[in-house]
Amino acid sequence: MKYNLCLCNEVGGTTEEEQVALLNLVDNLKATEVLEIGTFRGHTAQAIAQNFPAVQVATVDLPPGLFPELPDIPCERPYYDIGKQRDVIVASNAKRFYHDSGLLNQAKLELFGWLGKFDLVFVDGGHSLAQVLNDSLVAVECVRSGGVIVWHDYGEPYLDTVCRVVNGLFAGAMQIPHTRLAWWRKP
Ligand SMILES: C[S@@+](CC[C@H](N)C(=O)[O-])C[C@H]1O[C@@H](n2cnc3c(N)ncnc32)[C@H](O)[C@@H]1O
Repeated sequence: MKYNLCLCNEVGGTTEEEQVALLNLVDNLKATEVLEIGTFRGHTAQAIAQNFPAVQVATVDLPPGLFPELPDIPCERPYYDIGKQRDVIVASNAKRFYHDSGLLNQAKLELFGWLGKFDLVFVDGGHSLAQVLNDSLVAVECVRSGGVIVWHDYGEPYLDTVCRVVNGLFAGAMQIPHTRLAWWRKP
């Protein structure tokens, strides 16, 4: 195995194949800046950071104790605070941001210096249609031209929101075989 993975055995985490695919993308893009929307315990952010010490990983999750502004899927609520209580991020090149992604408007992104900054944006936050749509549009703003957006939960049988947004808005997006990841390159 080329990589040192950081796997989470709980619902919502990335599988071995998914982490390898993401790490290969980071490598192929020669990425230096990665953004993840939806941190949970931080396994995927930690995996990227520990394999690529020169890459800065920013990862966004809800502030502790807060529910999202946009309509969410109520069954996801119990997970919001678990991730913060059982954080696995130890790499100094991965940084957690506490922010509702539904409130990441243009002015905030500009303030953070995130507009067009990232080589790779991994979208894996809330899964209601409104949240996936919002986070995808945030990702478009944050990824540089020629950079890549990756969505988790594409093709999940019980969840069609990611497929609806990706298929509806991102022409040319493709699923990575043997994963629930879809990717799209910004022109
Ligand atoms: C499926 S988990 C993320 C898993 C993580 N990407 C990984 O690979 O381990 C989804 C996360 O999205 C977060 N989330 C949900 N709604 C959000 C919002 N509006 N803003 C930021 N984070 C949100 C949840 O708190 C949860 O931790």
